[in-house]
Amino acid sequence: MIRVAVNGYGTIGKRVADAVAAQPDMTLSGVAKRRPNHEAESALRRGYDLYGADPDRTAEFEAVGLPLAGTLPELLADVDVVVDCCPAGVGAQNRGTYDDHDVHVVFQGGEDPDVADASFTARAAFETARDADAVRVVSCNTTGLARLLAPIDERFGVETARVTLVRRGGDPAQTDRGPINDIVPDPVGLPSHHGPDLTAVLPDIDIDTAALKAPVTAMHTHSVNVTLETPPSPDEVRGLLADERRLFVIPEHAGIDGAGKLKEYAMDLGRPRGDLWENCLWGESVHVSGHDLYLFQNVHQEADVVPENVDAIRAMTTDMTAAESMTRTDQALGVGLATRLDDNTGPRESIAADD
Ligand SMILES: NC(=O)c1ccc[n+]([C@@H]2O[C@H](COP(=O)([O-])OP(=O)(O)OC[C@H]3O[C@@H](n4cnc5c(N)ncnc54)[C@H](OP(=O)(O)O)[C@@H]3O)[C@@H](O)[C@H]2O)c1
Repeated sequence: MIRVAVNGYGTIGKRVADAVAAQPDMTLSGVAKRRPNHEAESALRRGYDLYGADPDRTAEFEAVGLPLAGTLPELLADVDVVVDCCPAGVGAQNRGTYDDHDVHVVFQGGEDPDVADASFTARAAFETARDADAVRVVSCNTTGLARLLAPIDERFGVETARVTLVRRGGDPAQTDRGPINDIVPDPVGLPSHHGPDLTAVLPDIDIDTAALKAPVTAMHTHSVNVTLETPPSPDEVRGLLADERRLFVIPEHAGIDGAGKLKEYAMDLGRPRGDLWENCLWGESVHVSGHDLYLFQNVHQEADVVPENVDAIRAMTTDMTAAESMTRTDQALGVGLATRLDDNTGPRESIAADD
């Protein structure tokens, strides 16, 4: 069993903790937080051992009746891997503490790439994490782009990709985020950082990205245009992408027209927190004109990196292949969406990753 700690129990950390706890080959040793807020309480109610991340604030937990199992250093002394889910930039500050305890580390996409030995997505860059001490799971948007472009490049060859990302202004719980009643180019100068970030996991892809922020909380939307070396038919593209378990090709009959219905669908299926771990791309939007492919996809920013974190742990600490790890992760979580019961009633048995 791989012993795992999660430091930072917020939007990403709570989901990663649940995903680790669901794996047959991993033990969640505990989660660490600074503040004794509602998330600390819910971690305890879920049965997780809670550790104080800030030694100066442990008394605050006792004061409100939330028992701590110990401090972050005590947790780190007893694990093989720590998944750092602290706010962007805080992970880099924690690196020294992790090094002191000689643990493997998974950082998140808010950190700069040089925080770790390698940047990671399971589909595009599993082997780069092999035997690394620390990896960085790329951001939600970059994860979504890598999952989409890796199979397209393998089959049809990507000459150049141009993507416009309409990003959610904040997560549902981020009451301090915006914009309000506006759509804001962010950054105004092109390209956005997402294209360069993608080349950390797919170095041979030529890509330009432009990004905006919109006053929504549910998902990001990507408008994708890829110039291909070998032009396919739309059906070939849909078939290729439908074979990827972490891509959900939304069929026309589903009547899903946006993030609202996607989230409703996930909640109707009983998904925890209404999470969509898969990229959700509209089959009808797949259009080919000459060598140019166009499509729309949505990415659930709170969820798509979660299976990737689980795979990053195995890439560093086991000799499992990408396909083996992804299959195990997906079966444990229930990743894989289909809208025909005779097609697939649960997670698929095989995936189109290398093995
Ligand atoms: N949210 C997304 O959509 C998303 C998507 C992909 C990747 N990411 C990346 O994942 C990482 C975590 O993001 P998140 O959205 O999960 O953050 P979050 O919801 O704000 O949670 C951050 C957690 O870190 C803890 N923390 C520890 N040290 C802290 C410090 N010095 N200052 C403030 N908080 C500290 C917080 O604990 P306390 O509450 O006890 O202070 C909280 O539990 C970031 O790198 C982010 O860029 C986020």
